[in-house]
Amino acid sequence: MTRIWPGVIEHFKEFLPISYKTPIITLYEGNTPIVKAENLEYKIEKEYGIKLNIYLKYEGANPTGSFKDRGMTVAISKAKEENSKIIICASTGNTSASAAAYAAKANMRCVVLIPYGAIALGKLSQAVMHGAEVFAIKGNFDDALKLAKEISQKYPIKLVNSLNPYRIEGQKTASFEIIEQLGFIPDYQFMPVGNAGNITAYWRGYKEFVNLPKETKIKKFKVEDNKLPKMMGFQAKGAAPIVLGKPIKNPKTIATAIRIGNPASWKGALQAKDESKGVIDTVSDREILQAYYTLSSLEGLFIEPASAASIAGIIKYLKIGYFKKFKSSKYIPKIVAILTGHGLKDPDCAIDTSKKYVKIKKIPPEIKTIIKELKL
Ligand code: F0G
Repeated sequence: MTRIWPGVIEHFKEFLPISYKTPIITLYEGNTPIVKAENLEYKIEKEYGIKLNIYLKYEGANPTGSFKDRGMTVAISKAKEENSKIIICASTGNTSASAAAYAAKANMRCVVLIPYGAIALGKLSQAVMHGAEVFAIKGNFDDALKLAKEISQKYPIKLVNSLNPYRIEGQKTASFEIIEQLGFIPDYQFMPVGNAGNITAYWRGYKEFVNLPKETKIKKFKVEDNKLPKMMGFQAKGAAPIVLGKPIKNPKTIATAIRIGNPASWKGALQAKDESKGVIDTVSDREILQAYYTLSSLEGLFIEPASAASIAGIIKYLKIGYFKKFKSSKYIPKIVAILTGHGLKDPDCAIDTSKKYVKIKKIPPEIKTIIKELKL
């Protein structure tokens, strides 16, 4: 036990379905940095003439490198309480990394179904090193999820995809945490959408916060705000079933984490969009990769391609004039961008993308060549 940060269950206990009987399985997830994007803001002001306050919620700083840990600590703790011995998930990578890690901590078996050849190397290395039993399915994520669901219905194996309600409960803590860290509720939240569990969870978190008694808000969070943020969710153009309004058989995008054609929390995403008067829209792979490099090179936070959809969304909405009304107003809107996963998850994509911007130079081992190349 640590006295500094006890993990999301202990810290947000009163908002979670946890009792004194629940064994808490934690890797001390949560309490991730929220970083003001000063360099990005400056670039945006120069290019678009609009001032924005942009806060980056760096979920890549969770123990397994993605936001999934917030939900997994709750799902695995409840599975342990219910005496489950085996868990299962389908995954584009991050869920499996998180499930494998928390199952290891809980002394449980973990079964992972992944789309064959379609998950980033870092994520796969996590699952195998945490001792998961990994099956690569000749099919996509949606096929894998169907199988995982069916297996969990027929056998004593607990499903820990976000169809498991404890996952969403755990992930909603991110909204509470953002409010606690910032001291206010943001005006807009930009985030990627894949299976749509995360946008569903965030929206639930914000709504629950706003409905808390005033004394709780002030005592625990020192915040009185009541205004909900607009939820701005972004799917990759080749994997945008919610935007198209129908499932996609063969979703395609460079951002493998969100290569999903039939999201499980489809309804939750639409509800978040409608109730908040936000949007669910697309960003192209080109826009994603540009934002991926821009963010990493400007802000020093390394993110994976799917996470760059948040930043690509902000840039797209600047381009289409969505923030135009702030050009002539004194008010500077407050935007949170969720950076869902760490860049080290997908080193292949980072190396490929960077080639467009940076060349690694092969040189003889001598100072004069380095100095000459640096053009000091
Ligand atoms: N960003 C990253 C890095 C992800 O891994 C995911 C989903 C998302 C965004 C989208 O979140 O599904 O809640 O809408 N990854 C899942 C997985 C599907 O299996 O790891 P969502």
